[in-house]
Amino acid sequence: MIILGIETSCDESAAALVEYQSGRFRVLSNVISSQVKIHRRYGGVVPEVAARNHLKNLMPVIEEAFSLAGLDPAKKGDRPDLISVTRGPGLITSLLVGVWTSQALSLGWEIPLVGVNHMEGHILANWLDLPTDIKLPALCLVVSGGHTEIVRVTRLGSYQVLGHTRDDAAGESYDKVAKLVGLGYPGGPIIDRLAARGNPDKYKLPRPMLNSGDFDFSFSGLKTAVLYLTQQKKIKSRKAIADLAASFQQSVVDVLVEKTMRAAQKYNPATILLAGGVAANSALRAGMARAAQEFGFKYIEVPRKYTTDNAAMIAAAGAVNRAKARVAPRLKADPNWELPLKR
Ligand code: KG4
Ligand code: ZN
Repeated sequence: MIILGIETSCDESAAALVEYQSGRFRVLSNVISSQVKIHRRYGGVVPEVAARNHLKNLMPVIEEAFSLAGLDPAKKGDRPDLISVTRGPGLITSLLVGVWTSQALSLGWEIPLVGVNHMEGHILANWLDLPTDIKLPALCLVVSGGHTEIVRVTRLGSYQVLGHTRDDAAGESYDKVAKLVGLGYPGGPIIDRLAARGNPDKYKLPRPMLNSGDFDFSFSGLKTAVLYLTQQKKIKSRKAIADLAASFQQSVVDVLVEKTMRAAQKYNPATILLAGGVAANSALRAGMARAAQEFGFKYIEVPRKYTTDNAAMIAAAGAVNRAKARVAPRLKADPNWELPLKR
């Protein structure tokens, strides 16, 4: 079957066509129109502005997804078998644009539509274009701008959050620290790049909740520690900023990797996975691979291009939830839709 995925939960308008056959997901096209340049001047995403830009960008993005897949939606035979849209979590104004657009397409084309969870999408990014099976149960560290959680995947469609952040998400802490040091938005990729040239042992920063005995995280104290450090020490030179970026990043990566490994030792998964925008981070990718090998776990490296927000992962989540699809369903965007927490 062919699935059209639509994603507008934050500031990327995205559409993708994915073929799902015998348990494999093949990406036919994956188009992302990022609004980063627009929101950069405000230092973060402005929901109202994001929604207006989704309205402008989404239809052209969908058209491009069809064109890149070599399909013409004007022809009935070229239309997808299923439409899948992000219903939450995310910014309500942004979510509404994707949900309403997909409802209109479902009604007009008489194609079943399913609303899916954005975090399930991030996890399923690991399955895109993969030629082999992923052995389950898996343990997935999901790290994005709004979420940090360790999720147990017992089968596709069944997820248990073992622990999550009590305050800021990992990506959020990257963005806030970058803002604090005046590096721009979004902070993740900038700090990632700078950190490669810095000394991670230069500044002593805390490893929050490393020994809390559960699988929860906390990153707001780390951000405050960076703030105090910048008030106490002159961190102005390129070298000093790179050292700070590296020290901060090391602290985040240490906590994320260590806690994932502790969860792995408790739950003994067949596979360890990584997902979400922060999964693009070089140090985190390297750290997870190294630790998984050291502890003897199979680790699958999610392609970088599928880590940040995209609609191919949303199409995959649609395939998993296809039994719930209906033509022109009543679909309610849910900004607070979380995967179930189970401790
Ligand atoms: O998953 P995503 O695209 O959107 C959300 O669902 O939130 O994640 C965006 C987050 C941002 O906080 C961004 O700074 C972070 O992912 N990010 C990174 C990197 N690339 C994106 N963080 C660290 N290193 C990166 N290379
Ligand atoms: Zn996301």
